[in-house]
Amino acid sequence: MRQLKANVYAVGAIDWDRKLFDELIPLPDGTSYNAYLIKGSEKTALLDTVDPTKTNVLIDNLVKSGAAKIDYIVSHHAEQDHCGSIPEILLLYPEALVVTNAKCRDMLMDLLHIEEGKFITIEDGQTLSLGDKTMQFVFIPWVHWPETMGTYLKEDKIFFPCDLFGSHLATSSLFVDDQATVYEAAKRYYAEIMMPFRGPIKKNLEKMKQLQIEMIAPSHGPVVDKPEFIINAYKDWVSDDVKNEVVLPYVSMHESTRKMVEHLVDSLIERGITVRQFNLTTVDIGKLAMALVDAATIIIGSPTVLTGAHPKAAYACILANSLRPKAKFASVIGSYGWGGKMVEQIAGLLANLKVEIIEPVIAKGSPKDSDFTALDNLADKIAAKHKELKIAK
Ligand code: FEO
Repeated sequence: MRQLKANVYAVGAIDWDRKLFDELIPLPDGTSYNAYLIKGSEKTALLDTVDPTKTNVLIDNLVKSGAAKIDYIVSHHAEQDHCGSIPEILLLYPEALVVTNAKCRDMLMDLLHIEEGKFITIEDGQTLSLGDKTMQFVFIPWVHWPETMGTYLKEDKIFFPCDLFGSHLATSSLFVDDQATVYEAAKRYYAEIMMPFRGPIKKNLEKMKQLQIEMIAPSHGPVVDKPEFIINAYKDWVSDDVKNEVVLPYVSMHESTRKMVEHLVDSLIERGITVRQFNLTTVDIGKLAMALVDAATIIIGSPTVLTGAHPKAAYACILANSLRPKAKFASVIGSYGWGGKMVEQIAGLLANLKVEIIEPVIAKGSPKDSDFTALDNLADKIAAKHKELKIAK
């Protein structure tokens, strides 16, 4: 059995083959559904379960662990990739009780039809003894659902924060063995799942300061045995600081918008700005989301289609609007044939972002010299705005 510390075991499942989460998020490196078994001198607790597609793996691991009984199933979060196997585990261990907060309990009753009598409902900060080990429950709401909580195992100084600090990474390594790879996967995970909740995460990071944490065991990806690695990364990502970067998702039908994108990108590079350009016909939205974590400016490139933005550009706007990156500026470039409301539509689709809109550059037909000059002016304005923020020289 894979062991984090004495009598603390990893009993979850690695999903090497999963390629998509929520029918939206690409998983280029698979994922894992981490569950942990804690054998105290008197009681045994299972922290979370696994996605229902991997219940058999969890059951095999529990059998291998030699756990004759499970007293408590701690459910940190009601999303099914962690709680989906609870009904099966309750059939195998009928004496087990589900330990969670009131909000999560109600969601588990709705989602999994678990009877109310099977729950122990706990409060924030409450402890539950396993004998020689003590679980302390720490509510960490909105990472990324409202009911999410973590468990701090006091004697071992392990924090189990469920999705927070996770990474979609299938690996045979129990612990982080390659920080660069895990950093990339964790940043992708943050960008896709956690970024809309920067505010609550900041508060939860503050709250965690009261815990002496030696190890972080999330519900996806490897266990972090040097916690400052992932905590410092999160502090950077959730901060209000942006970088001297422009993200430019675009789509072009007949080369007009593409010519404008290429010109603007060259112009920005000449001004010392890092640019991340994404063709929306082939984009990995995880990469686009990651680029949005740090960028000071977002530029949408789109032709006008049926009087509005190209649907792929509209999709990128809806995605960015949902993820709520901390960008400070936005603009639009593109083309039109005979009119339309593309700019107004795109500005409306980005309504959640607290950005200043810099004057768009929209060409009639194929861009002319005056349009390329306007793009250079746009690059000048972006460079000046970045200098005002003291993120560019
Ligand atoms: Fe990994 Fe929010 O579930």
